[in-house]
Amino acid sequence: MAIERTLAIIKPDAVASGSAGGVITMIEEAGFNIVAMKKAQLTAAQAEGFYHVHSARPFFRDLVDFMTSGPVVLMILEAEDAISRWRELMGPTDAAKAGPDTVRGRFGTNIERNASHGSDAPETAAFETAWFFNCFERV
Ligand code: CMP
Repeated sequence: MAIERTLAIIKPDAVASGSAGGVITMIEEAGFNIVAMKKAQLTAAQAEGFYHVHSARPFFRDLVDFMTSGPVVLMILEAEDAISRWRELMGPTDAAKAGPDTVRGRFGTNIERNASHGSDAPETAAFETAWFFNCFERV
């Protein structure tokens, strides 16, 4: 296993409910190093570009509307095997099916309002971390 970096987003539902601190605590207790972090209000263009792989999906417009509905917290997480470990800590995409010890199980509601995002592969992690952070923002 290698040291990896992955993008994590605390989505607008979890930020609005005051759960960002709870998510960050779960991340730190799981042993991730947070190498970059900022709060942002995404524009439609930023959300559309970020989720371009889903642009043909029927839920794309709702996804963009949701992701721009309020502030998000953006992070780069570093750890051994960070990509799959962060996805495991988040739980399944549909928060209604997520266990109580996962981020989505604790703070999400359903498949759209699912509290968090994580990169799904090394190639997407490289694209997604560079989409939101430049090289001077990673410590
Ligand atoms: P995320 O991990 O951010 O990646 C893409 C997002 O699209 C996903 O979380 C869900 O929030 C959303 N998504 C995926 N499938 C559906 C669906 N069937 N209906 C609505 N939203 C979806």
